Amino acid sequence: MNDNALLSSVVRIQTESDSILAEPSENFISSPYIEQITERVMAYLEAGYPIHFSGSAGTGKTTLAFHIAAKLGRPISLIHGDDEFGSSDLVGRDSGYRKQKLIDNYIHSVLKTEEEMNSLWVDNRLTTACQNGYTLIYDEFNRSRPEANNALLSVLSERILNLPKLRRTGEGYLSVHQGFRAIFTSNPDEYAGVHKTQDALMDRLVTINLGHYDRDTEIEITIKKSCISRRDAETIVDIVRELRGIGVNNHRPTIRSCIAIARVLAVKGCHARWDDDFFQCVWRDILGSDTAKVTKGGQPVILEKAEEIISRVCGVRKGRAKKEE
Ligand SMILES: Nc1ncnc2c1ncn2[C@@H]1O[C@H](COP(=O)(O)OP(=O)(O)O)[C@@H](O)[C@H]1O
Ligand SMILES: [Mg+2]
Repeated sequence: MNDNALLSSVVRIQTESDSILAEPSENFISSPYIEQITERVMAYLEAGYPIHFSGSAGTGKTTLAFHIAAKLGRPISLIHGDDEFGSSDLVGRDSGYRKQKLIDNYIHSVLKTEEEMNSLWVDNRLTTACQNGYTLIYDEFNRSRPEANNALLSVLSERILNLPKLRRTGEGYLSVHQGFRAIFTSNPDEYAGVHKTQDALMDRLVTINLGHYDRDTEIEITIKKSCISRRDAETIVDIVRELRGIGVNNHRPTIRSCIAIARVLAVKGCHARWDDDFFQCVWRDILGSDTAKVTKGGQPVILEKAEEIISRVCGVRKGRAKKEE
């Protein structure tokens, strides 16, 4: 049997509908820092290099990956790193056989039964992206075991996707479509559920290290995501940024905490003020879990520290507001 004959017996389940079409969102906040990164990354991608955003939680990796993918304008295949991943989850697998039964009732007296067994090949997202020239976003890829990501090595350097061991029928490899682009993200600080990535894979990626946004950008994002007043957003961001600077893990709290506090306050029509009882409870709930393990006399140190910072930040603002009156 030649290759074509083999191919015709493979039933492909096309997963185009599984892809995402992203459009630039009006909720996206740009800044000179973000614009500069975006411009550079677009140039790398255009030159054929895959991009890797590395950074702590809340540094905007996933958002930036989508923003750039939207700019590329092609459908997106999204994969989340997962410890349970095997290479077949990336590439696809023979998922058994499809049985077709034809019962010919045309001639009443004869019941003709014809059975055909087709090997059923299920394309997964990497295969779909390589084949159709989609943009692959592989979010938190270091959560997958390194061997599960092996298929990417030849995709990124030789632009060939090897399928041999996985496919019972059909061709053993696939040439990567020239429109294919890849954006990876990872968090190097995460201690649970991540794997050391292979040098071979890292060597093929252009890594951009992302830090937390500057104060102004965090304020703009907080306002955009919660519809809270600028004054409240400034107070919340200042508190979070100061807390981030202390303690054992100075990547937390993240912008997510700013957004969460702001959203809940906005929902209740409350404010980030020292005399606002609701705010006093909310910041304890949302910020209390960060570095809660660092205790003094059984109390999380962060709460004590937060109380001090919040009373100071709120006090300064109150004083400023009074003067303006
Ligand atoms: N440029 C931006 N404009 C608007 N919102 C943003 C921007 N960057 C990040 N965010 C918001 O900040 C939060 C954290 O961003 P995310 O991309 O999920 O970070 P990471 O993937 O690094 O953990 C999300 O709620 C996201 O919507
Ligand atoms: Mg993310």
